[in-house]
Amino acid sequence: MTPSTLPGYLSPFLTPERSPRQAAVEWFRAARYGLFIHYGLYSLLGRHEWVQYRERIPVDEYARLADRFTAERFDANVIAQLAVDGGMRYVNLTTRHHDSFCLWDTKTTDFNSVRAPGCGRDLVAELAAACDQRGLGLCLYLSHGRDWRHPHAPNNERFAQSALPAYDPPDPTFATGDQYDLNRYLDYLTEQVRELMTGYGPVAAIWLDGIATPLSPRGEDGELIPDYDPRTHGDPFRCQQLYDLVHELQPQTLVSYKQGYLGTEDFFAPEHKAYNRFGESFEHRPGEVCTTMTPGSWGYHAELENQHLSADDVWARLADAAAHHCNLLLNTGPRPDGSLQPSEAEVIRTVGRRLEREGFPTG
Ligand code: GLC
Repeated sequence: MTPSTLPGYLSPFLTPERSPRQAAVEWFRAARYGLFIHYGLYSLLGRHEWVQYRERIPVDEYARLADRFTAERFDANVIAQLAVDGGMRYVNLTTRHHDSFCLWDTKTTDFNSVRAPGCGRDLVAELAAACDQRGLGLCLYLSHGRDWRHPHAPNNERFAQSALPAYDPPDPTFATGDQYDLNRYLDYLTEQVRELMTGYGPVAAIWLDGIATPLSPRGEDGELIPDYDPRTHGDPFRCQQLYDLVHELQPQTLVSYKQGYLGTEDFFAPEHKAYNRFGESFEHRPGEVCTTMTPGSWGYHAELENQHLSADDVWARLADAAAHHCNLLLNTGPRPDGSLQPSEAEVIRTVGRRLEREGFPTG
């Protein structure tokens, strides 16, 4: 990307001495606070985003949810405006969660929101436009270590027991034994990243999830490799190539992989508390702690609706993130129809008003 196509929000951070990525790091630190949106087929069931895995819903049965997916009240402008009103500077959307359903017009699979007969929309494109209009950063969550549909996705033969649902009998669509080829999954994943990086304008961050899987490969004997470290054991997931591709396609895009996989990520993005795998200071490299308004569920959970964090709880999370020199990425899971949970949105707005009055807590 030439400097003229860099996102406008980076302008105050660009200096002759800084590369676009260094400017993006400074922007990210200054941004402090972002909105995380978990939305997908699992939202329709309202029983946690891991419902397919937990209830061992067969792949073909789960896929039928796509016929009921309409996203009729998923309004990217409402979501982006909530971020603005909440005092946030970026939005992160689950473009493809572990269930494999994609929210953009991908050529890698028909299992996507555009092909869903009742939807026919590219939700990533809609959010990209809404963020662009408001000067918000667009961050794209993508499941990396898990995909409960792709035949060559990490499985339980080669990785820890949590990579695929424990189907009994095994689901026939997944390759096993000699038929299994992780590279076919990685090629698909790489192509998805390429699509996201080339079709939606400036991307603030590619946010990879599912680190437990690549960190738990099994050896020839089928046993988990103790103390596995991709930096010394080698990385069958080709992660550095993926990071390099992101940076090649857009030099300012930041890459994260949760608490850090190779240690070459641009920022660390652990869950719930500030830590990284390398014990590095967040003053040295940025961190972002993600947490969710509904404790225990990132995706919409019908039984837990209204049991969310209060404005004071969110404030305490902001203070805690600040104390650790980290950003806060606060999640809300839209309802089945894509609308925001009203009382969670109201808490986010209340915190936004307090931020406007008082500024960020110092921690
Ligand atoms: C975990 C969960 C996932 C959630 C994510 C958010 O990795 O697997 O459901 O999306 O955390 O950080």
